[in-house]
Amino acid sequence: MAHLRGEARSRYVRRMFDRIADRYDLMNAIMTFGQYRRWQRKAAETAAPIVGERFLDVATGTGDIAGDLARVAPLVVGVDFSRHMLRAGIAKAKAAGVVRIEGDALALPFPDNTFDGVTIGFGLRNIPDLRTAISEMARVVRPGGRVVCLELTRPLIPGIAPLFRLYFHHVVPLIGGLVSGSFAAYRYLPQSVDRFPDAEALRALFAECGLLFPDYEPLNFGTVAIHWGTKPPEGSG
Ligand SMILES: C[S@@+](CC[C@H](N)C(=O)[O-])C[C@H]1O[C@@H](n2cnc3c(N)ncnc32)[C@H](O)[C@@H]1O
Repeated sequence: MAHLRGEARSRYVRRMFDRIADRYDLMNAIMTFGQYRRWQRKAAETAAPIVGERFLDVATGTGDIAGDLARVAPLVVGVDFSRHMLRAGIAKAKAAGVVRIEGDALALPFPDNTFDGVTIGFGLRNIPDLRTAISEMARVVRPGGRVVCLELTRPLIPGIAPLFRLYFHHVVPLIGGLVSGSFAAYRYLPQSVDRFPDAEALRALFAECGLLFPDYEPLNFGTVAIHWGTKPPEGSG
């Protein structure tokens, strides 16, 4: 289903996350051997919130990254188009003081330059139009603010790549299917990674979308990456 395009892909993705929402956090913990929270915290740190700032977490899901940002930033908004994912994270959001809004990453419901920083975790891979999604995040962040993306990526290290493929294409769909009840969702996951740009290509895309100093840090033997870029300060263009 990762081959679907445009609105058909968005519809498929939204329904899929609606179906697995209640088991999403549990499956993340199992599939990553508990590592995913470490990567999410690192993504939030990369966004470098400081006291007094406003942050947006796009494709916020059950809201872990938004919660991490809210430890420092006083106003954090999470946006997602899956009502069930938003509902599944409601208790965490309340505890962290995060505001959650239903909305599409391809048309963020905020004016230009609204936030000091924007994050997206394990979301970009699911969005059919990467250029529009990145440009939207760049639009709503203020000049000089950062856009940060945490995402799965294809490892390029010889030896790791075939192991990752075996694990992701064969073990994850089986465990994911059993835990979440949706085998299709966890067959879609490795397909979506295969179709996603590699880390270098994603860095280039950040630059093409107008973000300055795009760079990334590979994690977990290059199977995960955090990308970032800065919106040009006013008057720099
Ligand atoms: C894999 S989950 C990631 C959730 C969370 N960010 C995390 O780190 O665990 C992907 C999320 O992206 C959301 N999503 C996918 N496409 C979206 C879009 N076009 N607009 C808004 N949310 C979207 C899904 O509903 C889902 O909650």
